[in-house]
Amino acid sequence: RGGGALLRVVSRAAADDAQRNAAAARLQSVGALAGGIAHDFNNLLAAVTASAETALARDPGSAAAPELLQVLDSAARGAALVRQLLAFARQQALQPRVVELNEAVTGIAGLLQRLLGRHVRLSVELEEPGRRVRIDPTQLDQVIMNLALNARDAMPGGGRLRIATGHAVVLQPEPIGQEELAPGRYVLLEVADTGGGIPPALLPRIFDPFFTTKREQGGTGLGLSTVHGIVRQSGGFIAADSRPGEGTTFRIWLPRHDGPSEAPVAHDPVQPQAPPERRASGPVLLVEDEPPLLRLAAEALRRAGFEVIAAGAAEEALDLVESGGARPAALVSDVVMPGLDGFALAARLRAGDPDLPVLLVSGYAEAALGRDLAAERLRLLAKPYRLGDLVAEMRALLPADGAKVS
Ligand SMILES: Nc1ncnc2c1ncn2[C@@H]1O[C@H](COP(=O)(O)OP(=O)(O)OP(=O)(O)O)[C@@H](O)[C@H]1O
Ligand SMILES: [Mg+2]
Repeated sequence: RGGGALLRVVSRAAADDAQRNAAAARLQSVGALAGGIAHDFNNLLAAVTASAETALARDPGSAAAPELLQVLDSAARGAALVRQLLAFARQQALQPRVVELNEAVTGIAGLLQRLLGRHVRLSVELEEPGRRVRIDPTQLDQVIMNLALNARDAMPGGGRLRIATGHAVVLQPEPIGQEELAPGRYVLLEVADTGGGIPPALLPRIFDPFFTTKREQGGTGLGLSTVHGIVRQSGGFIAADSRPGEGTTFRIWLPRHDGPSEAPVAHDPVQPQAPPERRASGPVLLVEDEPPLLRLAAEALRRAGFEVIAAGAAEEALDLVESGGARPAALVSDVVMPGLDGFALAARLRAGDPDLPVLLVSGYAEAALGRDLAAERLRLLAKPYRLGDLVAEMRALLPADGAKVS
């Protein structure tokens, strides 16, 4: 009799194992499928983009220009999604960086509000001072997105989504859900909704791959398992707290990063510390606030053999450099941008690297800019320019042998 019970336990365990293996295999085939679709989709997007670009180039002043720019913008977003899909399919290595959690939340909040629609009110409560974590920023976005989408689904009649940051010090192991929170210093991210909640019987299964109560609505059940995977790979923990009718709160503990902001990236195996002396060659830092132009210019430079780091704003470019993640060999920047302009950006970068070659791009004539460009060792390329001109300017600025001319 006792043997029968044991046998039942053993066969249950074997069945669990088989189920897990089946789930893993399914996850793998979904991954392969997603990878295949992503690849084809990328090609379609490339055609969409090229067509819109050609139409724009043929008649830049056309009445359809705003719509064509919109097409380009949407295609670029599609391409970003495809990259995420590919990352998922290939289980790509994480590219962790030191990120301020508050900034990451602020960065994605605008997009979230659009995603949530008018009936869900988004409130963001950021604890100051902002604390840093080490995580792949794209994946952090993905975590927040997936949780927000689930919250939206749980509030079809509208409600409130609250995203909050905080911190916690855990002194001894604490049970959370079916896991155990390890002692440590954490930054907290909370995503809470006022939706229908999760029945207690289902709560232990929500992080399982393919567990979904939205099969009919096209749910894959991969959202939360992806979130769980990202959080665990980043050394963090996640738990859900929910009562039917009272909404759901997801709480994420991410290990706090306390070092200075430059040091951690310097020790990053992905981005080894740059030697103190300037390298003979290095990436071109390209800054342009018009996304289609940024992409076109980046592509042209890459085709010409330059390594390119692209940024959509001066602030973003500064972040890249000041976080130690980029050590540009030259700067190419639009002059007129929202926020810091190209002159200010060049000055800030040259504060740390006085000999940095700079090419400014502007629709304004040199005289109209009211600056003595030669005295400031700034080169100017007038907009609109042909991509070939941009490449020629860069070749003059950064000859192939790595020597610089100013
Ligand atoms: N905020 C929430 N409120 C209520 N139920 C939730 C919430 N978040 C998750 N769930 C439950 O957990 C299940 C699994 O979520 P998960 O994100 O993994 O998949 P999904 O949302 O069903 O599918 P997909 O993410 O592919 O759209 C959901 O089907 C739902 O039953
Ligand atoms: Mg989901």
